[in-house]
Amino acid sequence: MACRFKTDLRESDVTPERDFINRRALMTGAGAIMASGVMGGQAVARGKYDVDAKPNSFKDITSYNNFYEFGTGKGDPARYAGRLTTRPWSVRIDGMVDKPGSYALEDILKGMTIEQRIYRFRCVEAWSMVVPWDGFQLSDLLSRVGVQGGARYVAFETLVRPSEMPGQKSAILDWPYREGLRLDEAMHPLTMIATGIYGKDLPNQNGAPLRLVVPWKYGFKSIKSIVRITLTDTMPQTTWNMQNPREYGFYSNVNPTVDHPRWSQASERPIGGGLFARRRPTLMFNGYADQVAGLYRGMDLKKNF
Ligand code: MTE
Repeated sequence: MACRFKTDLRESDVTPERDFINRRALMTGAGAIMASGVMGGQAVARGKYDVDAKPNSFKDITSYNNFYEFGTGKGDPARYAGRLTTRPWSVRIDGMVDKPGSYALEDILKGMTIEQRIYRFRCVEAWSMVVPWDGFQLSDLLSRVGVQGGARYVAFETLVRPSEMPGQKSAILDWPYREGLRLDEAMHPLTMIATGIYGKDLPNQNGAPLRLVVPWKYGFKSIKSIVRITLTDTMPQTTWNMQNPREYGFYSNVNPTVDHPRWSQASERPIGGGLFARRRPTLMFNGYADQVAGLYRGMDLKKNF
């Protein structure tokens, strides 16, 4: 997957699904964000960046997860995340911003126009699921708090609450879970804060009440249950890079030409495709090269992996 742990490629953990994912027929390019205006409904409107592929089932998306705060098994998040209290929820936004502070999620959402708030985006997650996300563009939030001139990176942190997150009682990771993006990556329209799936509130196991989605990067960049966003001029520490710097770099762009030290990243097996799903070639930037390759022009992507 995304995290590209070998275990993630086992098909036996997931409900067999006949969902067929065709990542070659990417990007319709048609229309802007034609959100229907129906919040909480099932209608998934087509957006500018939607992939032309059938989404995985709600069951697949919510029963096969990575969320180490609830355990390392793919079924642990669905089993244990229900106990997490996600309301009220606030996000501390600090560092190099004009309006630092603790922002209640309700106020973040209230401050947005309907068009901003119902940004819907069906994307290929970098561990081979197609997920119809609801949420807003991270850039809309950052613009509101006023990013200062010297800021170059955005750092994110997940909640630490061992009483409700049993995985945090062990030191498998150095809590809080941390992630980071370069500012231009964070401001890219494909980078979103998801608050829902299939028109429903984001289930806890998927990172309620708000999580990052960066579709051209491996899935571990998409940090869940965010409580802090910091604008900074230095490259922030990230959980998997701290854990194993040789294997996980800061950028973690999906790149079939740069192998993980322990396995090839040239192909993948679609989740939900069943036991006999064929592996298929992984696309550069997870199929979003037209949109994001420009962010890395001139960079050596073997060094900046
Ligand atoms: N965020 C936190 N806080 N903790 C985690 O363990 N796992 C990451 C990412 N975000 C993780 C996290 C990994 S490894 C992946 S692949 C994705 O979440 C999985 O997202 P999904 O379960 O919604 O598919």
